[in-house]
Amino acid sequence: MSFDTVLLEKLRSARHLVVFSGAGMSAESGIPTFRDAQTGLWAQYRAEDLATPDAFRRDPVTVWNWYAWRRAMMRERQPNAGHLAVARLERLLPEVNVITQNVDGLHQAAGSGSVIELHGNIHGSRCFDCGRTSGEADGANGIDIPPRCTYCGGMLRPAVVWFGEALPMQAWQRAEDIVTDADLFLCVGTSSLVEPAASLPRLARSRGCTVVQINPDVTAHDAIAQFVLRGKAGGVLPGLLAAAWPDDS
Ligand code: APR
Repeated sequence: MSFDTVLLEKLRSARHLVVFSGAGMSAESGIPTFRDAQTGLWAQYRAEDLATPDAFRRDPVTVWNWYAWRRAMMRERQPNAGHLAVARLERLLPEVNVITQNVDGLHQAAGSGSVIELHGNIHGSRCFDCGRTSGEADGANGIDIPPRCTYCGGMLRPAVVWFGEALPMQAWQRAEDIVTDADLFLCVGTSSLVEPAASLPRLARSRGCTVVQINPDVTAHDAIAQFVLRGKAGGVLPGLLAAAWPDDS
């Protein structure tokens, strides 16, 4: 793949880069996306039955088990070449922040130092009643499903953001501040359909930041991107780094 020389220069001279990632970032690690036809999770399961507070109230066992299955699957997965390229950018540019909708922790596993998780992290849990976080996602005694909160006895739920829930306030405010300051914004592997996360590329653009879209498919945000790179994260991102910094191995 060849890259626009203007884009390469913008990348090399970026003062503050933001990488905004979605499920497509982890697809090449073997983690299914949500909305890809056939393979996406929401093509096989109903979000209303699994990813809302009401679903958990109605059937906590099914919801807990579904997340336990995904958590176990994600534990086996490794960062791919795209995650590793994002982590490498930290030593090539003055400031790099990752804002992710993913809950798998793979950016951190790849070595990225500043990762804002807008939708939480599947490896943690918190009490559905008192809200206290619990380090042990699988529960203390391994018998109750869902496991019980050690403080109040309420049911534990995965520490992710469900449909109809607010984003963690601190993470969201930090994300908005970061995007407001950024001069280059890479939007990687997201369908950009879920708000408020999907407003971040628009915010970036409205602040005069250069927006780059990396995705094999057309997305709702191609129209606001100055550069659209049609391809997979695990190929495009390392290719972009190799083209911008050919002497850096
Ligand atoms: N590289 C880059 N992009 C890819 C790849 C890949 N290898 N494979 C698929 N994609 C793209 C798809 O074309 C699609 O545009 O990744 C995108 C995935 O979109 P979604 O499945 O909608 O995932 P995402 O945008 O992260 O969803 C947002 O929705 O269900 C909720 O909370 C969940 O965080 C999630 C949110």
